[in-house]
Amino acid sequence: MTKKKRPAPRRRTAKRAFPTRSMLAAMSALAREARERAHAPYSRFKVGAALKTRTGEIVTGCNIENASYGLSMCAERVAVFKAVSEGLDDFDVIAVVADSKRITPPCGPCRQILWEYCGDVLVHMTDLKGRSRTLRLSELLPMPFDGGHL
Ligand code: THU
Repeated sequence: MTKKKRPAPRRRTAKRAFPTRSMLAAMSALAREARERAHAPYSRFKVGAALKTRTGEIVTGCNIENASYGLSMCAERVAVFKAVSEGLDDFDVIAVVADSKRITPPCGPCRQILWEYCGDVLVHMTDLKGRSRTLRLSELLPMPFDGGHL
């Protein structure tokens, strides 16, 4: 007797749409423009970021340094705080652009802030030569601490 084939289980979670190459390129271009506005007289290391909501709004950020070094703010956090203060949420991608030999990923504190406000977003990292890497935040921040632990 042949076994009856069971129907495939219904997908419970919506499949995340992966952004198109051209969307990622457009976001990197915006991050690159934002990078030009960086205030980085101390490190001379300019970074730009562009954060996108699932509905298509894009908010940029650049790093802003201070003579009291510890007050400096990374490009990624500037973008997140600008976006959240504008009432935006439901983010899916952040593009980061810097000029370094190795692709620049978000620093530790930025990963934590991104996790809190953006969840498991795609992080698209590009250098000025156009080399890029795209990872999920959960790959950059495995086993994150969040409100669920409190
Ligand atoms: N920086 C960023 O803005 N984002 C990163 O992903 C890495 C570091 C900034 C902070 C500081 O202004 C400068 O780069 C050097 O650390």
